[in-house]
Amino acid sequence: MSCFLGPSTNNKSRENEGSSMAAPYEQQNLPRNDRRQITTWEAVGTNKESPKNIKAKSFKFRELATATNSFRQEFLIGEGGFGRVYKGKMEKTGQVVAVKQLDRNGLQGNREFLVEIFRLSLLHHPNLANLIGYCLDGDQRLLVHEFMPLGSLEDHLLDVVVGQQPLDWNSRIRIALGAAKGLEYLHEKANPPVIYRDFKSSNILLNVDFDAKLSDFGLAKLGSVGDTQNVSSRVVGTYGYCAPEYHKTGQLTVKSDVYSFGVVLLELITGKRVIDTTRPCHEQNLVTWVSTIFNF
Ligand SMILES: Nc1ncnc2c1ncn2[C@@H]1O[C@H](COP(=O)(O)OP(=O)(O)OP(=O)(O)O)[C@@H](O)[C@H]1O
Ligand SMILES: [Mg+2]
Repeated sequence: MSCFLGPSTNNKSRENEGSSMAAPYEQQNLPRNDRRQITTWEAVGTNKESPKNIKAKSFKFRELATATNSFRQEFLIGEGGFGRVYKGKMEKTGQVVAVKQLDRNGLQGNREFLVEIFRLSLLHHPNLANLIGYCLDGDQRLLVHEFMPLGSLEDHLLDVVVGQQPLDWNSRIRIALGAAKGLEYLHEKANPPVIYRDFKSSNILLNVDFDAKLSDFGLAKLGSVGDTQNVSSRVVGTYGYCAPEYHKTGQLTVKSDVYSFGVVLLELITGKRVIDTTRPCHEQNLVTWVSTIFNF
């Protein structure tokens, strides 16, 4: 998410790789009449130990260390641009969770972190991976999400190992539909609307019934729907999924997400990764390749 931008720890292509942290909201190009922004700041309050109105639970670092067996390698389920993700089991409740330990490099201030948490905790939809809680303990920042047992769409569609059954068509359609509903919620129902900014197959998580749940929607910022009001002029997103006009101008609109949705749809239809440098030159970018075939 915007507030968690920092140097990437893996080799994944991220448009903003190596860029510095996002500026605090006041310094960004937010619409002047966005009174909600002020409400959000006020709601978080100044006491970092007990910020008001944050619905997500605040965990102590110790609790999350216990849940993940001190962040043991066996509990590691993935690693992305913001840090490592561990499977954990909360000692008190027995709830199985995914704990994302954010890299310490380049994190923004406590207040900005809490503002993001506050904002995320207001978003609820069956096709969004629930934020259960967070930890802000010293310089440690962690996010606790509901655990999605089947991992990501990327695992089932693009990182298929020998012997693994490819996803059947019904599941692909079901996933596309669920992801579309999650996106629709962020764009049309969340108030203020949220632009995802990092819609991609690794951010579409799956439950046992192959229901899609969007994760990392915190990357999105409070956004105004409309072509003329951009949210930020700094490009954030993942290479290949990013809309070309957004990449060129930094002008972000909900249509940037719709473009990314189209890219994922292409991946779902073809079973091919949007960028794959192991393919012959003219096939390396799936969008360009497909557009030459269909002549658009
Ligand atoms: N809530 C979750 N439940 C189960 N697995 C998860 C969960 N969140 C993440 N993962 C797993 O961890 C992997 C890494 O996730 P992460 O979000 O850190 O990286 P990414 O999506 O690949 O890249 P990015 O940092 O750009 O989002 C995912 O691909 C998924 O397999
Ligand atoms: Mg992710």
